[in-house]
Amino acid sequence: MNWSEYSRFVGDIFGAPLALEALIAFFLESTFLGLWIFGWDKLSRGKHLAMIWLASIGTLISSIFIMAANSWMQNPVGATYNNGRAELVDFGAVLTNPIFLAQWPHTVIGAFMVAGSFIAGVAGWHLAKQAKKATPDAEDVSAYRTATKFGATIMLVAGLLIILTGDLLGKQMTQVQPMKMAAAEALYTTETNAPFSILTIGSLDGSKEVWSFKVPGVLSILAGESTVKGINNLQADYAKTGFTQADGSQNTLQKEFASKLSTLGVNPTPNIFMSYWAFRIMMGLGFLTMIVGAWLLWVTRKGAMPKPGKLWTTAVWILPLAPLFANSFGWIFTEMGRQPWIVAGVMPTSFAVSPTVSVGDVWFTMIVYTLLYGGLAVIELGLMFKYIKKGLPVVAPVEQIVDEDAPLSFAY
Ligand code: HEM
Repeated sequence: MNWSEYSRFVGDIFGAPLALEALIAFFLESTFLGLWIFGWDKLSRGKHLAMIWLASIGTLISSIFIMAANSWMQNPVGATYNNGRAELVDFGAVLTNPIFLAQWPHTVIGAFMVAGSFIAGVAGWHLAKQAKKATPDAEDVSAYRTATKFGATIMLVAGLLIILTGDLLGKQMTQVQPMKMAAAEALYTTETNAPFSILTIGSLDGSKEVWSFKVPGVLSILAGESTVKGINNLQADYAKTGFTQADGSQNTLQKEFASKLSTLGVNPTPNIFMSYWAFRIMMGLGFLTMIVGAWLLWVTRKGAMPKPGKLWTTAVWILPLAPLFANSFGWIFTEMGRQPWIVAGVMPTSFAVSPTVSVGDVWFTMIVYTLLYGGLAVIELGLMFKYIKKGLPVVAPVEQIVDEDAPLSFAY
């Protein structure tokens, strides 16, 4: 409700993917999640497992459409300006948007990294509890060990894939949003054989570099461009030609808006401090998770039990949290790095808000939502810790249910 101008402008583009998301994904998720929740001990084990698989497939399908929408904001393809808004001319272009083809796998793999880490963290915590016992429960130990190793393996495989997809995404992003990469690297002037910044300290207003430690040539490899454009050069380009991609091109909508935007005095530079550090924290937390996961597998190799203690406890806590925050910083980077645009090179964020909503309204809704979701988060975390602490349920041996009235199937 705070973004009515935005909804009006992109409605024709987002209408189709979001309707498909509801019709296909949400129905799939809600139907089969309901059957899974209420099908315990009613459906056969195989059918019951199939229910949660179908619900998860629904969630994956949902991520396709919502990511297609976000990728369109990063690179608005397949659209033209008509009737005062963006109108869809090629739905296929939206689903084959080069940013989308890298962003979707990157984001989904980020979720699997969290899932694997969560399993390894919870099972690892219980494994340490068993290790403390004088007589650990053999069945529980074997279950927790399997889960710890399974989770850590999933997380490590996801970690390798996230680096691969992150590299692909970095190259696509540099092409369609060169300013975002320049900001992520605090690169002020265009450089050939561009260096990757290990640490750059900028002036307080972010207008120039004060000190830096860089590795020559690495950014050109990561960006897939021998020459990487700098912030100052991109600002100068923008003043002359409006928003352009790294190769100087513009897609249809960006071309149609270039002249309209030139009079608006939009500063094309995002918050450099946030872009720089969000990019690094995302990657850093990813590497930390992988190191901890590898250590977990090493400690539990050949049937070994972990030594319960501070190090292990810290590790099993880091695991679920680190990739979770890596995802959050990934999104902070993607969204803050795209500013001042809500649709890259087409619509400035300041033009997208609802003209009738006051600052007071925004504050009021923000406070109410924060309190509401904060309260729900406390309840959710409370329930999660309650059931995590409970650990594995005691599984009673399967009773042979003999139906006295059933006709004899065999007699001798
Ligand atoms: C070496 C490691 C990584 C690289 C090179 C990398 C690269 C990137 C790039 C370039 C973007 C911005 C894309 C854009 O704005 O268009 C991004 C966003 C993102 N990253 Fe990473 N990333 C890495 C690690 C991670 C890790 C470990 C996670 C989470 C576990 C993660 C999750 C995300 C998410 C959720 C986004 C926002 C959605 C998106 O744009 O895909 N990334 N990453």
